[in-house]
Amino acid sequence: MSSNTGHPASTLNKVVLGLQWGDEGKGKVIDLLAGQTDMVVRCQGGANAGHTVVVGGKKTVLHLLPSGVLHSGARCIIGNGVVVDPLALCAEIDELALHGSDPTSRLAVSDRAHLVLPCHKALDAANETRKGDAKVGTTLRGIGPAYADKVARTGIRCGELRDLPAFTSHLRSHLIGVNGLLAALGAPAVDVEGAIDQVLPACRRVAGLVADTASELHQAAAAGKRFLFEGAQGVLLDIDYGTYPFVTSSNTGVGGVICGSGLSHKQLGEVIGVVKAYSTRVGAGPFPVELTGAAHGAKGDDIRRRGAEFGATTGRPRRCGWLDLVAVRFACRLNGVDSIALTKLDILTGEPELPVCVAYELDGARIDTIPSRIEDLARAKPVYEMLPGWSSPLGACRTRESLPTGARTYVEFLERQLSVPIRWIGTGPGREEIIER
Ligand code: IMP
Repeated sequence: MSSNTGHPASTLNKVVLGLQWGDEGKGKVIDLLAGQTDMVVRCQGGANAGHTVVVGGKKTVLHLLPSGVLHSGARCIIGNGVVVDPLALCAEIDELALHGSDPTSRLAVSDRAHLVLPCHKALDAANETRKGDAKVGTTLRGIGPAYADKVARTGIRCGELRDLPAFTSHLRSHLIGVNGLLAALGAPAVDVEGAIDQVLPACRRVAGLVADTASELHQAAAAGKRFLFEGAQGVLLDIDYGTYPFVTSSNTGVGGVICGSGLSHKQLGEVIGVVKAYSTRVGAGPFPVELTGAAHGAKGDDIRRRGAEFGATTGRPRRCGWLDLVAVRFACRLNGVDSIALTKLDILTGEPELPVCVAYELDGARIDTIPSRIEDLARAKPVYEMLPGWSSPLGACRTRESLPTGARTYVEFLERQLSVPIRWIGTGPGREEIIER
């Protein structure tokens, strides 16, 4: 392993963030970069994420494990900002073991990370049911209730797993409290002893992975190790800057990387934003560019089919639309994005022309940023510029110059609109189907 001693962090460390509503194809980009790093660090989110990596034609979907686990050289850290479901984590480790890979010797889970337990999933479902038509459309992975416990200072942290008897008694009293909340929501109570028995074996296994990851990262930084920070979800799902309340419950941008790893801003290095060549979102909430309704629904269905736009975690069909540069520009500004990885450009092949949303019109005025009020965003109409399409497939293109003219025009238009260079262009699902410069 090489080190970055003597080099500024900015030259060797990398942050990978989704700049839309999640599902931008971060898994592939992280997998590509993980071979050039020493440590891959997850900093926020939980098993709501679904990072798909295709290696040698074999598809692996990772939820909690950092995508670096597919590279035998990388140490993988689940940082304090992640909410850790021990059942999901063990299931994922077992799934990898079935395919001959055991990442546990390279994996550490922060002692400060909060646990997501089945009672959080029960609360997630009960909250959604109670909201009815106004539901967020969460992944039902217990994410919101686990972060709510963290912020309310009633959570249970992974460090507690080091003393299982004390953890068990804390969990018992926690579950009694949860049953009070479930009763208020009109949902069935959790069987307290059954719930404890259900999670203890996985908790025992996760206990063996728990470490003071902040200290480990500080030591690694001092030793000049290179870091890759793996974002989950996307900036438009950020709890502060996303389309609130239709968001996830963590900070999905660079702020979440700092708070959720224990490293300072000085260690962040290059911020790489991942942008899909069109837009998708899962779950509810305003989505100005959505291709829906009698006039546009068929095109939305077509993109969904061609792009296989179904949730990697839940299997839900994703809502599809043209590229929204208002959203991406906002995400770039919020996070100081240095370079962009543009994914799934190949999916747009065959479109005669490509509308790209460059601004919104709101109550007769043209705006170039995302309004904070959800009611305003719901009324915002996309302003499109039309770009030429292309018809020849991109899969074999390995340089920018070899791209069809329409595809090159699309890439160059985005660079001008965003003032950020596009360093990678995804031309197919495989690890090797990418143009890099
Ligand atoms: P939660 O994170 O499960 O609470 O879900 C809140 C919102 O974020 C819902 O609209 C989900 O569909 C969305 N969401 C959460 N994780 C992901 C992801 O990894 N990709 C895309 N959408 C996500």
